Amino acid sequence: MSDPASRPIAVLGGTGPAGAGLALRWARSGENILIGSRDAQRAHEAAEKIKREAGNQSRVSGMENSAACAAADILVLTVPFEGQATLLKQLKPAIRPGSILIDATVALAAGVGGRASRTLGVWQGSSAQQAAELVPKGVSVAAAFHNLSAEILNGDEALDCDVIVCSDDANASQLARSLAAKIPGVRAIDGGKLENARTLEQITALLIGLNIRHKGHSGIRITGLPDGAYV
Ligand SMILES: NC(=O)c1ccc[n+]([C@@H]2O[C@H](COP(=O)([O-])OP(=O)(O)OC[C@H]3O[C@@H](n4cnc5c(N)ncnc54)[C@H](OP(=O)(O)O)[C@@H]3O)[C@@H](O)[C@H]2O)c1
Repeated sequence: MSDPASRPIAVLGGTGPAGAGLALRWARSGENILIGSRDAQRAHEAAEKIKREAGNQSRVSGMENSAACAAADILVLTVPFEGQATLLKQLKPAIRPGSILIDATVALAAGVGGRASRTLGVWQGSSAQQAAELVPKGVSVAAAFHNLSAEILNGDEALDCDVIVCSDDANASQLARSLAAKIPGVRAIDGGKLENARTLEQITALLIGLNIRHKGHSGIRITGLPDGAYV
């Protein structure tokens, strides 16, 4: 794998609010961002917008999703659950061996005409576990960023939210936590195995319900852990 300091981060589905918000925050922190889309022109336009918001010094470019996979070994997946499996199957040949995929997908019932404040049952247990089944052998998956509000990510304020990272691979978990900690206001916490991602997704559904009920942008904070548990 290349030098972590110069490794680009490909945000697949980065034209949507969740991916664009993460990309904006990482671009501001100096990371080299590749916005991925099913359409290269849409990716280019989204990248230009993020670059304008992050400042001229920022490194943001846009390309079709498979080109982004071929150019990066850090992949962040921010697409709706209903498109996740098809997209990963399409991208499989382009994903580089040894890559780390960080999945932020939430299996919300809204995607199939249900309520956004409810999750779908996923056969594998969670969206992230489904992703882990679909990536090429040797590619590690971490689940993270489910509980961050895209609306706040796309603004200038610090987030008031912890990011819990779940993964079966220590390096993938470490990488996701270091990226989380680059977002102002975020503390990253090791949430254990990938199977715990199902709880992260359910928390998102709960937060959406709270946002509707109370008209806000809720997040979560975990208290009571020793200082060393927070990155
Ligand atoms: N919004 C939030 O606050 C938030 C917070 C945490 C997690 N999440 C999760 O993060 C993911 C993305 O959220 P979002 O609100 O940004 O979603 P979104 O706007 O619906 O979709 C993001 C991008 O995914 C691509 N896409 C849409 N349908 C697709 C399909 N069928 N196959 C492949 N790509 C498709 C589109 O990009 P192109 O058309 O350019 O390819 C779109 O711009 C979701 O799973 C969501 O549950 C969202």
